[in-house]
Amino acid sequence: MSRQAASVAGIMLFTLTLFAVAAALHGADGAAERARIEQGRLAVRGRPALNPPIWPMAAYENVWKRWGLKEKPANYAAAFRDRYGLHAAPYDNDGLPMGLHVAQGPFAKGPMNDCLLCHAGRVAGQTIIGLGNSALELQGLYEELSAATTYTINFPFRFSAVRGTVDPVNPAVFLMTFRDPDLNVQAPVELDYVSDLASDPPAWWLLKKKKTRNWTGGVAAGSIRIDMVNLLSPLNSAEHVKKQESVFAAIHAFILNVDSPKYPFAIDERLAVNGRQVFEQNCARCHGAYGAKPSYPDKVVPLETLGTDPKLATSIGGKNLKYINASWLAREPGPDGKPIQVVERDGYQAPPLDGVWATAPYFHNGSAPTVYHVLNSKARPKVFTRSYRTEIEDYDQARLGVKVTVLDKAPGGETPAIERRKVYDTTRSGQSNAGHNFGDALTEEERAAVIEYLKTL
Ligand code: HEC
Ligand code: HEC
Repeated sequence: MSRQAASVAGIMLFTLTLFAVAAALHGADGAAERARIEQGRLAVRGRPALNPPIWPMAAYENVWKRWGLKEKPANYAAAFRDRYGLHAAPYDNDGLPMGLHVAQGPFAKGPMNDCLLCHAGRVAGQTIIGLGNSALELQGLYEELSAATTYTINFPFRFSAVRGTVDPVNPAVFLMTFRDPDLNVQAPVELDYVSDLASDPPAWWLLKKKKTRNWTGGVAAGSIRIDMVNLLSPLNSAEHVKKQESVFAAIHAFILNVDSPKYPFAIDERLAVNGRQVFEQNCARCHGAYGAKPSYPDKVVPLETLGTDPKLATSIGGKNLKYINASWLAREPGPDGKPIQVVERDGYQAPPLDGVWATAPYFHNGSAPTVYHVLNSKARPKVFTRSYRTEIEDYDQARLGVKVTVLDKAPGGETPAIERRKVYDTTRSGQSNAGHNFGDALTEEERAAVIEYLKTL
């Protein structure tokens, strides 16, 4: 071999070695990332448990005594799920429904909720992790489990005003009252409770597209610490909470890895092609473009243009906002090195519409049962109820969403509260179905075409 050839071979060998090292490092990175996602996948369902339980195991076993029954139902697990809008866990969960897990408290074991209580659901017979649980009866679950204990638990707010939605602000305010800015546990300070908030949890698969998150777009999508409000049980020390930041980074990695579910029924492809045009002309400027060249504008639309219910958008501000922004939760450095703060937005963010077929009911407060109703404000029912079951027959394939029964009026005070919460009354504060009139000028044919197109996203 000539000297030149030898040195070329040497360089090649050297280069190949570099490639091999890079590939090995990359492989290790990939494996580490997969392990992190796996850690997040388990953490969102309470493995390991992140919080001590609120109730003892006996509360779960005895809560049926609050249901007005003479004896314990034969299929207790199923009856429990039905009452509170929970679903069978598609993983081993000690017999508890998805969203609850067994946790160890200072004295005994008990059931505790995890992220999946609100962030996993069922639609058209499929269980989907990352889908908002639109069947959830959170108020009844918390109230009745608490009443089934031997001690008194008082929450100074309502968890939910109408089934399928939750109040996302007041529980965080409540937990923050017990914390100083460094999250040390303290005697409760005075913060402001807000009334009538209804929020339908956004699907997790949308987060990867967003720069700002939550319905108002008031939180940077990259924030890890914001979800750590879920850890602020007064039984958790500040040190314990802060130590979980790497777990929440893993949870974040998992959420960014959740994909939207495919529409499970037939799609009329020709109609969908027409619908795409209607969408691009009327909707894409806010909701983004899909297909080969996807884009997402991350746009917060002001209330005066949008006209949907203002309660949630105007609930974040004042004393509460100052308090959270002064705390450790809002000292997380963002990409620009500045701390990630929660900001007031007077509007709602137009969400990406991937997998939108699955996320009914629609709007931040769940006030529109189907996409058809989103696109035709005059057709929206004023007072309605639904089965809260999640089988194929409960799904409205034509209008894309949940099947509902329209009522003349909401039931009065003589009806038990848990039954009243099954009725969506759009005349109530926080539950308006007004606004988003962007589909009103479309013809019925154009609406049908857009709906067909949305099935493909
Ligand atoms: C009691 C129900 C509930 C629980 C439990 C819950 N969330 Fe949420 N989550 C919500 C609601 C409601 C929203 C929407 C808040 C808003 O904007 O009104 C939300 C918003 C989010 C978002 C932003 C989604 C987006 O695209 O804007 C993420 C991410 C998230 N939650 C993660 C978590 C994690 C992680 C946990 C567990 C540690 C958790 N949540 C526990 C109800 C819940
Ligand atoms: C000016 C901006 C804008 C335009 C134009 C617009 N939207 Fe929206 N859209 C929004 C905002 C903002 C929301 C969230 C409103 C809320 O939750 O209160 C929304 C919500 C929705 C939802 C419900 C999403 C969910 O998860 O609840 C659907 C579906 C939807 N829009 C479809 C459309 C379609 C189809 C068009 C075109 C005919 C359209 N939008 C035009 C801003 C817009």
